[in-house]
Amino acid sequence: MSSSAPIGVFDSGIGGTTVVKELMKSLPNERIIYFGDTARVPYGNKSAGTVIMYSRQIVKFLLEKKVKAIVIACNTASALALEALKSELEVPIIGVVKPGAKAAAEVTKSNKIGVIATHATINSGIYEDFLHKTDPKIQVFKKACPLFVPLVEEGWISDDITRQIIHRYLDELIDKGIDALVLGCTHYPMLADEIKKVTGDNITLVNPAFECAREFRYLLEENGLLCEVSQELGHEFYVSDGPKAFAELAESFLGEDIVTRANVKVYNFENDDSILRTYEIKRSV
Ligand code: DGL
Repeated sequence: MSSSAPIGVFDSGIGGTTVVKELMKSLPNERIIYFGDTARVPYGNKSAGTVIMYSRQIVKFLLEKKVKAIVIACNTASALALEALKSELEVPIIGVVKPGAKAAAEVTKSNKIGVIATHATINSGIYEDFLHKTDPKIQVFKKACPLFVPLVEEGWISDDITRQIIHRYLDELIDKGIDALVLGCTHYPMLADEIKKVTGDNITLVNPAFECAREFRYLLEENGLLCEVSQELGHEFYVSDGPKAFAELAESFLGEDIVTRANVKVYNFENDDSILRTYEIKRSV
């Protein structure tokens, strides 16, 4: 496999672009092929069997695009499907959960860590499994925060309602004396500033997207796959539904400091590889 081949990144929808943002920062030479399963989002309330089946279909798509390595940018798919996929693939694959748990274990001093995520990720128990393997003394306090996802997608970031909901979910974790909080869902880093206002300075927020990008860099290096020169071709974004809405939201998820000329195309699983429409993520170079 050549180091100039693209990397594949996938998520249940738009949220994985918070991971793309970190990957673009730490791996500026890599070309990204992103798949957001916007037709079937959310994954956060689906069964493991369904999430594994969807993830397999997306991985097949990415492999057809000749990716050299894959990042599961979705916490839920990382929690439920990574192990199954790992055993089936020849290319390196990484999820966001383990890097996030590792970073939280590194920052905690009180050994009390909060984890917030979708219902599926919380119910999988994967964060506490990793954390307890790292240090059995760590106590994990977890909470599913499903309303954060639609709030972010609606753009209600700095909003009284959002602040109230953050309190409703997080006050009980804060009362437990946690000193680290894992933002275990792709959308939650978008709420980091607001969450910080509620949690205060004594709780460190851990963004698995940032940690995952760092670990992915090591993974590419280890496998001799790190791209040393910048690529001619741009990034590509594929979605299974609604390219226009995705392109608009992706601008805010990728943030001011990210520049991309990527197109967003629709992939239809039924017709296999039919590209229906193309939209551009408008941020200019
Ligand atoms: N991307 C999902 C995650 O990180 C959140 C949205 C969903 O439920 O699919 O868990």
